[in-house]
Amino acid sequence: MQIINTINELRSALEKQTSVAFVPTMGNLHAGHIQLVEVAKRHAQCVVVSIFVNPLQFGVNEDLASYPRTLDADCKKLEAAGTSIVFAPKVEEMYPDFDGGNLNQTMTITPPPIANELCGASRPGHFSGVATVVMKLFNIVQPTVAVFGKKDFQQLFIIEQLVKQFNLPIEVIGVHTVREPSSLAMSSRNGYLTSEQRNQASQLNNTLQDIVNLVNSGANDYPKLEQQAKTTLIQQGWLVDYISIRSSLTLAPAKDTDSQLVVLGAAKLANTRLIDNIEFLR
Ligand code: PAF
Repeated sequence: MQIINTINELRSALEKQTSVAFVPTMGNLHAGHIQLVEVAKRHAQCVVVSIFVNPLQFGVNEDLASYPRTLDADCKKLEAAGTSIVFAPKVEEMYPDFDGGNLNQTMTITPPPIANELCGASRPGHFSGVATVVMKLFNIVQPTVAVFGKKDFQQLFIIEQLVKQFNLPIEVIGVHTVREPSSLAMSSRNGYLTSEQRNQASQLNNTLQDIVNLVNSGANDYPKLEQQAKTTLIQQGWLVDYISIRSSLTLAPAKDTDSQLVVLGAAKLANTRLIDNIEFLR
């Protein structure tokens, strides 16, 4: 496995590859990421994984400074998983106009309005930062296939729009969320949880699953179901950002005529913001 830090070196290393499968990450890798690599390996001989904590997608009061950076451990896991190349650029390599915290000179992508709903409502600019770095990484790696986790359902939706609307010749593959035995979705941010909070954290998934069960048994007052779920989580000590039942095809609020649905939630346990979702049919 090669570990490469610069765009030029990566381009030379990829020169002879006819097909590349790409897994973008921010590092601090867990079994969910390794699953993305496993899927990537089925699509190309050359698998590139990027590790880059993208400052553009963090809000001013978010965890950019404390986001866990574990490059050595990540590289060991990626080598064991059969990764061909790790691309781990510095901020200056990705954003040459970055001048010590001011990214104002950086050209960015404005995603469609759905990026201002759900996670985007409480994280203004987040999906512009994601779309911008993913576009840059796509241009650098030029993969045939790119693999993303479905835990970040809204992110995956926006990246699918990016690829479609900018006519990128890339197949985007979404991979099912890998969960702890408790049903807690694997996430780098789970590392912020105390062991007591970790035990409690599966309540988010359980609450989403309750909604799925209720819809499957005929409930169709979606705003009421969302409100009930929020109340349950608040009573359990969560600070709820949103619980929302949406069309899984368009991410618009679910209508009675929609049959392909996704229920998404974001909530904080103390200072840790967790997200999860469940796709389902009705
Ligand atoms: O999902 C992530 O880890 C990040 O948002 C991504 C896609 C690597 C872009 O920084």
